[in-house]
Amino acid sequence: MVMIQLTGLSGVGKSSVAWHTAKLLEADGISAVIVDGDVYRQTLCKDLGFSKADRHENIRRLGKAARQFVLEGNVTIIAAINPYEEIRNELKELYNASTVWVTCPLDVLVQRDTKGLYKRAMLPEGHPDKISNLTGFGDTYEEPNSPDLILQTDTETPGETAQRLYDYIKQLLAD
Ligand code: ADX
Repeated sequence: MVMIQLTGLSGVGKSSVAWHTAKLLEADGISAVIVDGDVYRQTLCKDLGFSKADRHENIRRLGKAARQFVLEGNVTIIAAINPYEEIRNELKELYNASTVWVTCPLDVLVQRDTKGLYKRAMLPEGHPDKISNLTGFGDTYEEPNSPDLILQTDTETPGETAQRLYDYIKQLLAD
């Protein structure tokens, strides 16, 4: 019964790490499901925005969905920014979710800018494409106080990072 909640800024590599890790688990005959914030925000969480209350509600719903997948016997990885300690603690208390902090320096994210969001965050005030509440820029990201694992995506390849998460999950399954 393993639930992992990734946490980290947009573009840091949460989905990529989750995907690579799921492949490693499946090659081992272990069924894995990814509950991806970007995907759920187009369906179950479509009505939600990016206020603190909406981000809380978003993670609550992802937690509930993940719980169902766990009960069905899947290792389940929630891949969302998940920026608030309070709600991460809630998922830990409710579902015994492990917290895995996926991180790299902000300037690397700004340089990568896979979705073009950081460029939009840096536009001048009043520009129609400006995003003023991007996590890590105009909006809060609370670094986890005591993460169960830290994955650094600027110094390791996605494969290496996934291997470390895979090893951690295998340990949890063995306990
Ligand atoms: S969370 O904060 O509620 O956990 P979640 O992971 O579901 O966020 O969604 C984040 C995704 O929404 C980002 O990867 C990005 O594609 C998009 N997004 C759009 N606006 C914002 C914003 N203001 N802050 C963060 N992400 C945003």
